[in-house]
Amino acid sequence: MNIETKNLTKTYKDTRVLNLTQECNALFFESGKIHGIIGPNGSGKTTLMKIMAGLISPSDGDVLYDGRPGINDVPKDITYSSHRPTLFSRTVFENIAYPLKIRKRSKAEIHTIVSELLDEFKISAIQTHNAKKLSGGESQKTAMARALSFSPKVLFLDEPTANIDPKSVKLMEAALLKRKKSQGLTIIIITHNLSQAFRICDTLTFLNQGTCLYSGPSHGLIESVDPIIHDFISFNLLKKSDFPIKS
Ligand SMILES: Nc1ncnc2c1ncn2[C@@H]1O[C@H](COP(=O)(O)OP(=O)(O)O)[C@@H](O)[C@H]1O
Ligand SMILES: [Mg+2]
Repeated sequence: MNIETKNLTKTYKDTRVLNLTQECNALFFESGKIHGIIGPNGSGKTTLMKIMAGLISPSDGDVLYDGRPGINDVPKDITYSSHRPTLFSRTVFENIAYPLKIRKRSKAEIHTIVSELLDEFKISAIQTHNAKKLSGGESQKTAMARALSFSPKVLFLDEPTANIDPKSVKLMEAALLKRKKSQGLTIIIITHNLSQAFRICDTLTFLNQGTCLYSGPSHGLIESVDPIIHDFISFNLLKKSDFPIKS
């Protein structure tokens, strides 16, 4: 599913925390690609993502889903997973099965899908553990497996790999790349890890104080002459091998 934003703004009381009316007044997130949203803390990344996921309404502007205005009618087959995922006090298996249960899938089908996900995310050994008692990495993997269980068309991920061990990060990135290819899933991911952004994202959108300083192909960010983007890249101390190759 393609997602577009048109002149989005969000104001809390008197403070405008998102202002996409000048630069980037029309953002476009193409279907079947991985799109990164990056930028300093408080720059409006989560706000933008929650608006696109239909979790909060913009003060102005609209979001189009495959060209259809949808603020009041957000499609059902999109899913959002926050960096502090809300898992239920049930087993890991039941948490992953939940989106399938409410979609009335058969028991056999649920069993097959959940087993495959447990295997893919290497969490079979903890499938009977209470999801409220998992480590950060285990929760994130469970949350990602749950988000993917019903094969959504759009997946929003808010810092899914912060504070997670490198092996699990690799596993989660592989899961995203696989679905982008095989299912044409549109993935929009907020990350503070610039190396990760360059590894997996086709496009990047850079927010700063609620405005957008760049939105385009990932490799284009490197060529930006904007001093704030330049500083952000320098602070992230990238190795040469992290840089994206122009395709
Ligand atoms: N519910 C809210 N009420 C008031 N201010 C908010 C609310 N949610 C977010 N903000 C403010 O909006 C700004 C952008 O927040 P956020 O989108 O979470 O930034 P980011 O995800 O880039 O760190 C911040 O200054 C934050 O304090
Ligand atoms: Mg945030």
